[in-house]
Amino acid sequence: MFEHNYQVYVARGIVQHYSQLRQLQPAEQTILDLLSDEWSSMKMLDIGVGGGRTTQHFSGVVQEYVGIDYSQEMIAACQTHFPSSSQSRVFEVGDARDMSQFEDNYFDFILFSFNGLDSLSHLDRLQVFQEISRIGKSGSYFFFSSHSLQGLEREFNWRKQISLNPLTTYVNLVMFGLLRFFNRSISSKQLKSSDYEIIQDESHNFRLKQYYVRPQEQIDQLKADFDNIKMYSWKSGLEIANQKELSINSDMWLYYLCQIK
Ligand SMILES: C[S@@+](CC[C@H](N)C(=O)[O-])C[C@H]1O[C@@H](n2cnc3c(N)ncnc32)[C@H](O)[C@@H]1O
Repeated sequence: MFEHNYQVYVARGIVQHYSQLRQLQPAEQTILDLLSDEWSSMKMLDIGVGGGRTTQHFSGVVQEYVGIDYSQEMIAACQTHFPSSSQSRVFEVGDARDMSQFEDNYFDFILFSFNGLDSLSHLDRLQVFQEISRIGKSGSYFFFSSHSLQGLEREFNWRKQISLNPLTTYVNLVMFGLLRFFNRSISSKQLKSSDYEIIQDESHNFRLKQYYVRPQEQIDQLKADFDNIKMYSWKSGLEIANQKELSINSDMWLYYLCQIK
């Protein structure tokens, strides 16, 4: 899984794609606003920085900004886009599973945006959480997004693809067919009973194998090292405040904000 996804993220067309992205996602904007009083004193680590979509929004407001990515090509793209490299904005090649280049208790805000974490296996993911809890100060923030198994259940159900517009229905059913084909070893029943699954989804034309997790399982994974876990809809940017709101949420991915114990 690691090597497969890595090859996607070093491909020229994919690097170009991420280099062109500029807008923050609604949940990211929510957090940018929420912590507005704290940014100026924060040391921030942007893991899986990609083409620097988040750099332009965060690097100017924090005290120190470090962007890492395991793709040398992504880092080169960031260095081209943000050439005036200074002490307070640095890009370097680095793998989230082993961040031994950083000392313990260093960062105040750690971001792993746009589901970058989902390109790793279950065990690698848990390793990343441990590394983050080591390099972040106690009380510091970890903010990331991850694909939701709850959202995917809808995509696995052909009845949910029918709309009043025949063209939309046609496109939906084609995508449904491809999704089921690429994941033919996984049944709807299995999906319903799983805490997490590795799914070949439509992003980058079904080239990535991505981790999808049930929100409650995600919370359980974080509990050992993180406190004050909050969830946000990526689409609306609003906090998902209670179990009822969560039970009806069908976002394909959710953002999680938590603090290191
Ligand atoms: C979906 S892209 C998001 C890029 C960027 N954060 C954005 O929001 O536009 C995920 C990024 O995470 C990086 N990535 C995936 N696994 C990684 C790992 N183990 N360590 C560092 N970077 C990783 C990929 O190379 C890719 O650039």
